[in-house]
Amino acid sequence: MTDRASNDSPGPLAPAFEILQCPVCGEPFEGATGGVRCEAGHHFDRARQGYLSLRGGGSSATGDTVAMIEARERIQRSGAHDAIAAAIVDAVPVEASGWLVDLGGGTGWHAARVLDARPGLRGVVLDASVPALRRAARAHERLAAVGSDVWAGIPVADASVAVVLRVFAPGAGARGAAELDRVLAPGARVVVVVPEPAHHHELVKPLKLLKVPAGKADEAAASIPGARHATTTTVTGVHELTREQAIDAIMMGPNAFHQEREALAEALASWPEPIAVTISASVVVLDIG
Ligand SMILES: C[S@@+](CC[C@H](N)C(=O)[O-])C[C@H]1O[C@@H](n2cnc3c(N)ncnc32)[C@H](O)[C@@H]1O
Ligand SMILES: [Zn+2]
Repeated sequence: MTDRASNDSPGPLAPAFEILQCPVCGEPFEGATGGVRCEAGHHFDRARQGYLSLRGGGSSATGDTVAMIEARERIQRSGAHDAIAAAIVDAVPVEASGWLVDLGGGTGWHAARVLDARPGLRGVVLDASVPALRRAARAHERLAAVGSDVWAGIPVADASVAVVLRVFAPGAGARGAAELDRVLAPGARVVVVVPEPAHHHELVKPLKLLKVPAGKADEAAASIPGARHATTTTVTGVHELTREQAIDAIMMGPNAFHQEREALAEALASWPEPIAVTISASVVVLDIG
């Protein structure tokens, strides 16, 4: 931790002042009553639940709803995503040290697993969703939770990050790549997880869900100009889900913006349980020179 900032309560947030920067002017922060203030005087609130909100006034991103987050928590607790989580941990070098930033990190579930396995890292979850941040603030003693629209910019200092995770979370095109490039330290590693076309395929067609286009892993592998594509590991498993779990698997992702639980329950009512559902994602690893 640097001596340029402190916070009014202990916990994982204060050490993160080492890399966090003002989303308005890029200056570093110091602690202030109820939040933080940058050297130019921009003030941001620290929520009672322990996360810091660095949302710019112009951002309309709200992120995932409580219902989506609860559905994801139930699926993650069921073990259905354990193989993906393990592949993410494996993608982070054992000797990694410094800062990990999880873009669109949600409740911090993946970041917490990586921090457990990699004691040399401290982490920051950046997410636009308030209910996700409330949970992320309690996810791990070395994990700070920060509200941010990562499409608008990453509120983190230049060349300060050793490991970036982006797991089932939207990239932000060329501008997002430039921002990512800016925050990565020399020798940094980026781990991007994207769904494969086989993901949930047993549900997609009959329920008219959003299709996963082919080529997302290749896109991720080429997403940072100048980075070296190290590996792509595709994790695929068929899981036996109850109808409620199948609905959770659907409603934990972007389909939730187009579907209602009740309508899905009706459509699945005649399906025998368990329902075999493929979970398939690629873990794409990029290295910065
Ligand atoms: C499918 S979830 C994945 C969450 C987490 N990475 C995981 O795998 O458990 C996508 C996440 O991106 C967040 N998100 C969406 N748009 C965002 C934005 N513009 N800025 C920051 N986070 C965003 C959502 O709130 C949500 O938590
Ligand atoms: Zn500022």
